[in-house]
Amino acid sequence: MNYLVISCSLNPNSRSRLLAQEAYQRLASISESKTELLDLADLPLPVCDGADAYNNENAKLLKQRVVAAQGILMACPIYNFDVSAAAKNVVELTGRDGWTGKVAGFLCSAGGQSSYMSVMQLANSLMLDFRTVIVPRFVYANYPDFDDESVSSPEILKRIDELTQALVKLTSAVASFE
Ligand SMILES: Cc1cc2nc3c(=O)[nH]c(=O)nc-3n(C[C@H](O)[C@H](O)[C@H](O)COP(=O)(O)O)c2cc1C
Repeated sequence: MNYLVISCSLNPNSRSRLLAQEAYQRLASISESKTELLDLADLPLPVCDGADAYNNENAKLLKQRVVAAQGILMACPIYNFDVSAAAKNVVELTGRDGWTGKVAGFLCSAGGQSSYMSVMQLANSLMLDFRTVIVPRFVYANYPDFDDESVSSPEILKRIDELTQALVKLTSAVASFE
């Protein structure tokens, strides 16, 4: 079983990157499988155009890593009551081959409480378009949950524990089912 955590913020001071790092560390410690952390800030990608963008070398690299993973966590900034365009671009560039039969979970960083359901648009599209199995719990954090360089909220850290454990259990279950 391979696990991939994708940090989807391009902000150098990203908070969702801190969530991604926490999730990656937990996954690496609870699973003997290969676990990778992919930071989109380190992998400049073209905006998906449904055509030539798929031939971009970094887009190919992204797709290889998503295709190779069975359990995927996306750490997403919330922009305009949705995940960031960079996060959605990952799904557009990787598509059916990347997400069908996979298990996916989400960690979100937002500026307030009211965007709590924002990840559902992406989750629904993965479920309905690619039959991705969505982990039925996710992490939603906002500014008071962080200090300068780390996730400071014990509640959020507990939720990251629960999310990573659920991802491992569900990914194994789905693999045995298929
Ligand atoms: C363009 C933009 C749109 C935003 N829209 C929302 C929003 O709809 N709801 C919200 O709670 N926070 C919103 N925010 C705040 C971000 O979610 C917050 O800064 C979060 O930490 C971003 O994730 P990051 O730190 O990993 O980049 C927005 C921020 C930006 C820059």
